[in-house]
Amino acid sequence: MEKIHSLTGMLDLIGHKTSKDDLAEKIFYTEEILRDIFESFSISEIRTPALESSSLFKRSVGDASDIVNKELYSFLDKNEKSITLRPEGTASVIRSVIEKKLDNDTHKLWYLGPMWRYERPQKGRYRQFNQAGIEILGYPEGLAELEIVSIICSINNALGIEKPVLKINHLGNNETKQNYCKALEDFLIPLSSKLDTKDLERLNKNPLRVLDSKNLDTQAILKDGPKIIDYLSEDAISILKTIKDTYSNDCDIEIDHNLVRGLDYYTGFVFEAVSSSLGAQDSYIGGGRYDELCKQLGGKSLPAIGMAIGIERLASLAKTHKNSRTLVSFIILSSNIEPKAYKIAHNLRSLNDSINIDVQLSDGSLKSKLRRANKDNAAYALIIGEDELKSKKIIVKPLLEKNSEQAILSLEEINSFIKQLK
Ligand code: HAM
Repeated sequence: MEKIHSLTGMLDLIGHKTSKDDLAEKIFYTEEILRDIFESFSISEIRTPALESSSLFKRSVGDASDIVNKELYSFLDKNEKSITLRPEGTASVIRSVIEKKLDNDTHKLWYLGPMWRYERPQKGRYRQFNQAGIEILGYPEGLAELEIVSIICSINNALGIEKPVLKINHLGNNETKQNYCKALEDFLIPLSSKLDTKDLERLNKNPLRVLDSKNLDTQAILKDGPKIIDYLSEDAISILKTIKDTYSNDCDIEIDHNLVRGLDYYTGFVFEAVSSSLGAQDSYIGGGRYDELCKQLGGKSLPAIGMAIGIERLASLAKTHKNSRTLVSFIILSSNIEPKAYKIAHNLRSLNDSINIDVQLSDGSLKSKLRRANKDNAAYALIIGEDELKSKKIIVKPLLEKNSEQAILSLEEINSFIKQLK
């Protein structure tokens, strides 16, 4: 029979006890840390569906973006309606806030979940990947920018990210952005014969994206082109300076006027956290201000700033690990006593919630069960057979220290033993 494989660019993440998959363990740990950090900033969770109307992403992420142009997982449902697996979370959050009539207030929201983009898979780039995102809604430019960078510093710190770099830029307000785009267009159109097809396409759809070109000839042409800094207000330049001054001890902050981001909804402050250890796909966080999006999607005028973290990329950079909890392997020697012995394990578990008790559920010899306990790195095996149950005793066998002897403890002594484990 033909084997069924996972789809290209889509990962199975399996906990290490089963597969020794280090990235999966790091991803689960990273997600825990991120949840804690979001809660510590008093940000509330939001969950939106993975599927949305296709028009949502066309009207937000934008027709000019690579994401909408070629990367959407879109298909017709049974009702012939075009639906799309979300490629990112911001559009859905704003759709939801408008729909629930929450767009007249301030909100701090976070989300975590899979996103889908039909990209060419390579190191750090998948077709299904996980993002944790934050959207800070209802706050105009200023403190919200400081808060978002503060969150990035906390993440770098908590996960021990080495030499973090944060690239920042300002795209101006809508008017500035349009004026600058026009100047860029006027400069590039006479030179279009020198641009490759990809950059020509960008020039037609969104001239700003040409700044992002990887083509060295285009980059050389742009050296003589108009610069965004000449179009920015003093306030815009000053926010970049404030961010750099405030966080220069935490992170290497680079002002990069070519940073434009790949989604169309941004205006104002934009940023990407990058690390050279990631290779070609070097950005592990991306975000910025998008004050126009809510109105554009039919809601009220709602200033907004947000970011999304690529979990796989962040986890691969993480240097800190979860401290593994003490594991106790509970071995029942006879099927005749299973329910009564299981009840003892059930009661023991309630005595100490900082340890793990793994009741071995399968049949098998004591030898094979001890082998399993050793393989799982258990610190102790608790062994109970018919005789022990009758005499209300349990055997405790230390597994990590070589010369320590096993002991037979009464149920009261076992309770105290479990309580003092850390
Ligand atoms: P983005 O830059 O498209 O922004 O994605 C954010 C992060 O998701 C990237 O920096 C990267 O780490 C990760 N990522 C993107 N595509 C892939 C992929 N194919 N494989 C693995 N990781 C990937 C957004 O999505 C915006 N919604 C961020 C935002 C929130 N802006 C305002 N609020």
